[in-house]
Parts: sequence; structure tokens; C-alpha cells
Amino acid sequence: MEEGKILVTGGAGYIGSHAVKQLCNAGYSVIVLDNLSTGHAKAVDPRAEIVVGDVRDLGLLDSLFTRQKIVGVMQFAGKIIVPESVSHPLSYYDDNFNAVLSILRAMHAHNCRNIVFSSTAAVYGTSKEPAISEEAPLHPESPYGFSKLAAERLIRDCEKAYGIRHCIFRYFNVAGASEDATIGEAHPVETHIIPVTVNASLNGTPMHIFGNDYQTRDGTNLRDYIHVLDLADAHVLGMKRLLAGGESAIINLGSDKGYTNKEIVETVGEVTGRPVSWTYGPRRAGDADSIVASNARAKELLGWAPKRDLHQMIADDVRWRLGHPNLFGRPGNKLSSDIRKRLINYVSSRHFSTFYEDIENADRDRLSKVKNANRLG
Ligand SMILES: NC(=O)c1ccc[n+]([C@@H]2O[C@H](COP(=O)([O-])OP(=O)(O)OC[C@H]3O[C@@H](n4cnc5c(N)ncnc54)[C@H](O)[C@@H]3O)[C@@H](O)[C@H]2O)c1
Repeated sequence: MEEGKILVTGGAGYIGSHAVKQLCNAGYSVIVLDNLSTGHAKAVDPRAEIVVGDVRDLGLLDSLFTRQKIVGVMQFAGKIIVPESVSHPLSYYDDNFNAVLSILRAMHAHNCRNIVFSSTAAVYGTSKEPAISEEAPLHPESPYGFSKLAAERLIRDCEKAYGIRHCIFRYFNVAGASEDATIGEAHPVETHIIPVTVNASLNGTPMHIFGNDYQTRDGTNLRDYIHVLDLADAHVLGMKRLLAGGESAIINLGSDKGYTNKEIVETVGEVTGRPVSWTYGPRRAGDADSIVASNARAKELLGWAPKRDLHQMIADDVRWRLGHPNLFGRPGNKLSSDIRKRLINYVSSRHFSTFYEDIENADRDRLSKVKNANRLG
């Protein structure tokens, strides 16, 4: 293993916190950078260091890269709610594109050459392929999907220009929790079907399945699901490959098969022993019949295949929710008074735009002047 640390942005979030845990289990030294906008300080593995701050803050990044030997970055930080991206495109491009721009600037300036990036199946839009390969046409249908595709493009351009190698992962639907039920999905609002259905089952609240006349085995939408720990394992393999000098790659992370909405609702009822009270609602605009990933490339390049099935995703999610009735509470919870003070100071004093000029070689001097502008604790 190359000496040095892995910087995990968004490592206090749902997927990032599982990746941090798996990285620590694999023996890596990890630093988490997270602004705790939707993440939870308590979700960060105690073996990792945590810096509360924003990825778009170049002064902070410069300070961090100067003080630590960072050999690779995993970029999870971002916003994830598709309908919200339609009403708030500026915010989504800022968090999903500008954050990547900043991290690449810092990596370039500090000679860090390996990035693993969280992209999404939303870059494909509605595909007609039975199993979507990485070569499928790219037709995002939301600002969320476009912001991720733009970030992918930037990352690829930075390889050509600066030799920063990448592993871009396009995730399908992620679910589940850690096997020890210490961390799990705790978004301020859950929009994905598995947590929504588990909550409906545990709370006894009714829910809709949207549409029953799709071209699938039971007429309800069919989607590809992947356990968050399988996803995290793939990230560790992706980083290992880059650190060993492996070539850049864009890789789907999915299971090569799908489950229908009806199968999910029924499986949740079986796992909890509390059948979900549900009825059919109208179709939702834009929902494709079926979306499944081809994961052939992940198998070939990483030797990776998902090990955990739908039943385990649901069982782990249920165990996590039952053990944590308030989940982690609100995002950014339980900060020590010291961190809280820094967070408040930080938010009130941030001026990212100052840093958005080019920091190619000629600009390094200017960047060093803002070094320590945001002091790390
Ligand atoms: N959850 C899914 O099913 C799914 C599917 C496809 C892709 N993804 C991608 O995976 C990544 C992680 O998703 P998640 O479900 O863990 O989301 P999450 O909201 O739980 O985690 C995102 C984390 O990033 C932090 N963050 C956001 N903006 C930041 C910024 N500017 N600076 C520092 N920290 C910031 C948040 O506080 C949070 O901890 C996202 O980039 C998302 O687009 C997720």
C-alpha cells in the first residue's frame, strides 16, 4: 500500500461513511472532509480524522493538502435529490460540479494523482438497453444528471492535461447498512424506495406503488439495487487499482439484475413481519419500465461482483432503523463545542468566488497566500 492518506470528501454521508469504514478495515489512513450539510459527524469511523469544511473552499483544501500527504481522493460530497435539482440547479451545479473543480485544482497544485468519483446511472437517462453498459448513450434528464456528467468530463480532461487518473463509478440504486448496524442511511428526507418502504412498514403508514402497467414481470418498475457495503468494497478496489498505477476507468456499479417495486414492498413485509399497506398510484412522469446495469466491466477490471442480495439490503436497513429510532438525529449532530465554533465561523466567512481564477503554475503563489486562511483544528 502506498504511504500517505486517502481524503474522503462527503465521508460523513451515507455512502461515504461506509467507504471510510471499509478503507479503515483495509488498513488505509483516512481523512474525512465534510460540511455536514446532510452528513453526520457520528457516522464517521473513529479511526478516521475529520475536518469540518467545504470542498469548494480552495483555501481550506490548500491548507489540508499542504499539511497532509494525500495520495488519493474519494469524492462523495454532493447533493443527490433529482427533483430538487430541477428547482435548484445553481445549488446542484455548485455542489456537484464546482466541488469537483476545486478538488481537482487542489490535487493538481499538490501533485495528487488519483481520484475515485461518485457518479450515477442518471447520466444514462432513460435507456432502452436491457442491461446498460458504460458505452450506452449519455442522456441525463435532470440538472442532477447533467452536473455529474459535467464533473465526469472535467475529471477526464484533467487526466489528459495533468495526468490525474480516475476511477469514475456510476452507481445504480444503493441501499442497506453496515452489518454491525452502527451506520446506515440517514438522509434528512428519504426519497428512495427501500428506506421509504421500510419506514412505511415500521410506522404502519400506507404507501403507493406508482403504476402497474409497465413492461415488466409484474407491471411495476424494475430497478437495479446494490448493497452499500458492496459499493464501498468496489471503491476500495478502485483506489487500490489507481495507487498501483492502474489505468483510468469508468465503471458501472450494479447487480446485473433487477427487482420490481412490488417485489421490494413484499420483501420488506417478509423481513419486518409487518406487511406494508399499499395501493397502486398513477404512473410518475419519466419513469422507465426497467433499468439494470451491466457489471461486466467491474468484474473484469476490479474482480468485483456484488455479494449481498435484496433480502440482506432490506434486513440490514431494518436492523439499522430499529437500533436507531432517531437515526443520527439532524445532520451535523453532536459536534463538540470546538467543532461547532469552527463550523459557524467557517460558514459566515466563506468566499469561494475569490479562489476561482486559474491556479495553474503561475498562480501557485497566490494560492499559498491564502494558505491557513481556514485553519484546521
Ligand atoms: N444514494 C444513492 O443512491 C446514490 C446513487 C447514485 C450516486 N450517488 C452519489 O453518491 C454520493 C454520495 O451520496 P449519499 O447518498 O451518501 O449522499 P449524502 O447526502 O448522504 O452524502 C453526501 C455528503 O457530502 C457532504 N457534502 C455535500 N456537499 C458538500 C460540500 N460542498 N463540501 C463538503 N461536504 C459536502 C454532506 O454533508 C454529506 O455528508 C453523491 O455524490 C451522490 O450523487 C448516490
